[in-house]
Amino acid sequence: MTRHDILNDPSIGNKAEAYEAFDDIPTNPNLERTIGDVINARYGRREILRGMLGVTATTTLFGTSAMVAPHQASAAGHGSRYAFDELTWGNDENHHVADGYDAQVLLRWGDPITADAPEFDVMNQTAAAQLKQFGYNNDYVGFVPLNQDGTRGLLCVNHEYTNEEVMFPGLGRQDNVGFSGMTPELIDIEMAAHGGSVVEIAKDANGAWQVVRDGKMNRRISPLDTAMTIDGPAAGHARLQTNDDPTGTKVIGTLNNCAGGLTPWGTWLMAEENFHGYFWSDNLDADGKPVIADDAPEAASYKRYGVPGMWYNWGAAHDRFNVDKEPHAPNKFGWVVEVDPMDPTSTPIKHTALGRFRHEGSETTVSSDGRLVIYMGDDNRFDYQYKYVSGGKVTDDRAANSKLLSDGTLYVARFDEDGTVAWLPLTHGTGPLTAENGFNDQGDVMIDTRIAADLLGATPMDRPEDAQPRGDGTAYIMLTNNTKRGADDVNAANPRPESSFGHIIEIKEHGGNHAATTGTWSILVKCGDPSLAEVGAQWNPDTSENGWFGSPDNCAIDADGRLWVSTDQGSGWAKTGKSDGLYAVETEGDARGTSKLFFRCPVGGEMCGPYFTDDGETLFVAVQHPGTDGTKNLAGFERNSTFEDPATRWPDFDPAMPPRPAVVVITKQGGGKIAV
Ligand code: FEO
Ligand code: CA
Ligand code: CA
Repeated sequence: MTRHDILNDPSIGNKAEAYEAFDDIPTNPNLERTIGDVINARYGRREILRGMLGVTATTTLFGTSAMVAPHQASAAGHGSRYAFDELTWGNDENHHVADGYDAQVLLRWGDPITADAPEFDVMNQTAAAQLKQFGYNNDYVGFVPLNQDGTRGLLCVNHEYTNEEVMFPGLGRQDNVGFSGMTPELIDIEMAAHGGSVVEIAKDANGAWQVVRDGKMNRRISPLDTAMTIDGPAAGHARLQTNDDPTGTKVIGTLNNCAGGLTPWGTWLMAEENFHGYFWSDNLDADGKPVIADDAPEAASYKRYGVPGMWYNWGAAHDRFNVDKEPHAPNKFGWVVEVDPMDPTSTPIKHTALGRFRHEGSETTVSSDGRLVIYMGDDNRFDYQYKYVSGGKVTDDRAANSKLLSDGTLYVARFDEDGTVAWLPLTHGTGPLTAENGFNDQGDVMIDTRIAADLLGATPMDRPEDAQPRGDGTAYIMLTNNTKRGADDVNAANPRPESSFGHIIEIKEHGGNHAATTGTWSILVKCGDPSLAEVGAQWNPDTSENGWFGSPDNCAIDADGRLWVSTDQGSGWAKTGKSDGLYAVETEGDARGTSKLFFRCPVGGEMCGPYFTDDGETLFVAVQHPGTDGTKNLAGFERNSTFEDPATRWPDFDPAMPPRPAVVVITKQGGGKIAV
């Protein structure tokens, strides 16, 4: 499928759906060199599938429930430790939470978040106003307490992207009409709506969370105007130098911030995901595809990263997003950004030691030997799972702790067929990462992390999304789906061809130490409908028809060490018939692999967050792009949403307001821990 075909495909309803289709063109050219294929060549594929995969990776790793044939699900969750009555699945214009819980809309796109911010006026948007208002498409949510009992704190929220067709009156979708309606003013509003927000919130006398609009630490971070510094091995590198910044140590802004994390010392990590989509070229072929000369200095890197993606036309108004004018500018994106939410004047830092790829999340933990460890996925079909381990130890010294993000080792995962995971260091001068292969220094290894990981023989995965470590040396990896994996490309860790529904891998690091360079892995669940044999799903038999799901994306561990998973099915939700939601997934004991539905999104929305406060009594979830994805499949609506005619006007249900992305806060009626 060409770029032209995708943009003109009538089955693709909006830009977000087009992104998915573009991602069907994988950028990893190295599939023939997977460890699975090495083993296949030695033993033969049929033996692998019948032998090692069928017995070792399924029975031993998953447990006996894996051998239970897909069956009609029974009543929900007998052995599950999650104490709530499961929600009924469905898809409609509103959100729903399990009985006995309150779900209150806390922050919506456009809500004023500074004392001097103007009230939201959707018909008269400006970039200046948006820079003082809550941004669009909230993905990561974190909470930094400001007092001992956690009744006041800072909500740190990523604003991943914008949906112009439901954001601006009278505009419509732009990527398939050459951005003909986009003005410089609209571009700047889009830019101002990206990035992140720090917003103080506090519990009122009734125990309800409220926004503290004049909170001294409230701030917006955006790709329009937030100055950042670059540190680590690639700082100052020639490939980061631009006309604006001959030092290669500075950049304006962050973008496409998807999932993220908080560090143990309370700073916020914003992962830059689909950065390639924001870069532009005026030099196009007849298909509208950018023409990059094979001998251009960045050609190989652009190809591996999909640069320039041309999803937004910011480069038409800002040279720093036009690769014809600033060929090094894309190298300043695709990193993890650290923000100190406690200091509203602090300059965010892009930490190049954490590598450059389509960073999905950056959840942290402290290893048993005291080091900082961060698990990070590269969300592309056939791309890799990474983790970063600091050289030094986490201490009580906040300033010293930040340096842990500059000096450490980045590893990429190889998931072996025998259930071992090997973490391969991306260290210049080690193995193939040498000048002969184009890596002159560690800066090159970090800028071209993907190419370095290709050479190390990492395992191409089914789109690694969020990953969540737990203090006991366990980590959960969300693999969302990969419909382009052929039968010849399966490996034990990605066992299904044409996987529409994804799976979850559990890693147990050696010795319970997150800094270990080896561990074991197993598949916790294979997602999809367990009543359809052809889907090949694996759930604990106690999982009900409400509890199974497709396309795991974000995840969280609650105060009791239990796993929660949120979904993003995109336009593919009709394959399950269910809206996206939040699920409680049991990982322990006989109930391992049991899932229960707790919250579900309004139609067209993606479930993000989730985040539990330390006391386990508050759960934040975030609904991205309500009313957009796959609305052609909503019975009774059956068309693409627009500003004027959306599938839902959640959460306001005001005829003068389009749907608005929003953060929702969930508490138990009468108080107490969630699901306990
Ligand atoms: Fe922004 Fe991979 O989801
Ligand atoms: Ca995601
Ligand atoms: Ca996520």
